[in-house]
Amino acid sequence: MTMAILRRRSQQPRRPLTGRVVAITGGARGLGLAMAQAVAARGARVAIGDLDSELGAAEAAKLPGGAAGLELDVTDPDSFKRFLDTTENRLGPLDVLVNNAGIMVVSPFLEEPEALTRREIDINLHGVITGMRLAIPGMQRRRTGHVVNVASVAGKIAVAGEAVYVATKHAVVGLSEAVRAELRGTGVELSVMMPGLANTELASGMSAGRGVKLVEPGEVGTALVDALERPRLEIYVPSKLNGLLRFNAALPQGARDAMNRFFQTDQVATKVDKTARAAYAARASAGMPLAEAPAPPSSAPVAGVTEAEVQSR
Ligand code: NAI
Repeated sequence: MTMAILRRRSQQPRRPLTGRVVAITGGARGLGLAMAQAVAARGARVAIGDLDSELGAAEAAKLPGGAAGLELDVTDPDSFKRFLDTTENRLGPLDVLVNNAGIMVVSPFLEEPEALTRREIDINLHGVITGMRLAIPGMQRRRTGHVVNVASVAGKIAVAGEAVYVATKHAVVGLSEAVRAELRGTGVELSVMMPGLANTELASGMSAGRGVKLVEPGEVGTALVDALERPRLEIYVPSKLNGLLRFNAALPQGARDAMNRFFQTDQVATKVDKTARAAYAARASAGMPLAEAPAPPSSAPVAGVTEAEVQSR
């Protein structure tokens, strides 16, 4: 059955990306930028939206095809609408939306400041909901379009030390599957992407586990191109994660716990180099006041870094 599906997929004609309009949230750096570069190299017209709009504009200027770098805060529906409207005015009707913007808070669950928890849910989950609600109606009218929601391997397995992040990514996986079912027959495709821990600022100070290599952003770009050319629901990066995660899900909980310990996935977000992570933590928390977190007595806190993040540095 699986083999038959794979054979059918490999026989599907590829849909060229040339001239397609692709909007990518959080595209100024990391995986979003790598995806922007990969689709632009295939002839797509790209709009990068990011909180860091200066960096987004500078990176867009290096892309072929008259790419746009625009201001975007995915937590603000008006900002998201402006981003998509400007993209369409400049580049044409939207063919693809990649909901990629996200942050990762590394903290023991009980110590994570409430404001940071809400910010993470707002960006990682609500941002995806807003993006779909704004982009899909136009795609439905045109009876063509593709939404790609970037979840994570953390949308399929539970990782200690990043519980709320795990919750947002599980939510994005479920949300994507449900919305895809509603879109059946409309001409609009929906995919959800599950990269393993990748070599970007978001993962600074973390290691991927025993014998596991960090995913390079370029691999994620290649996987996006493939999924846009031959649409499918789940995009795993690397692709072997598909089988591994299915195997893991089929195990009883005790065996899953043992696998977690063996591959040290239980340490990915609990044994973190906080110093190496400080700059990322400051950016991701956006200078949020940290009333919940008294400064540690021995060292001056980095602006915007939570007590949870600075602990044990
Ligand atoms: P990154 O931190 O390198 O880049 C994320 C970009 O999103 C930044 O440019 C940031 O300014 C932007 N952004 C953050 N909040 C925003 C907002 N409210 N509105 C607009 N833009 C915003 O992170 P990375 O690694 O590139 O992650 C991208 C996505 O991939 C995230 O959803 C992340 O959860 C997911 N992911 C990352 C993995 C990793 O190990 N790096 C693995 C699996 C998934």
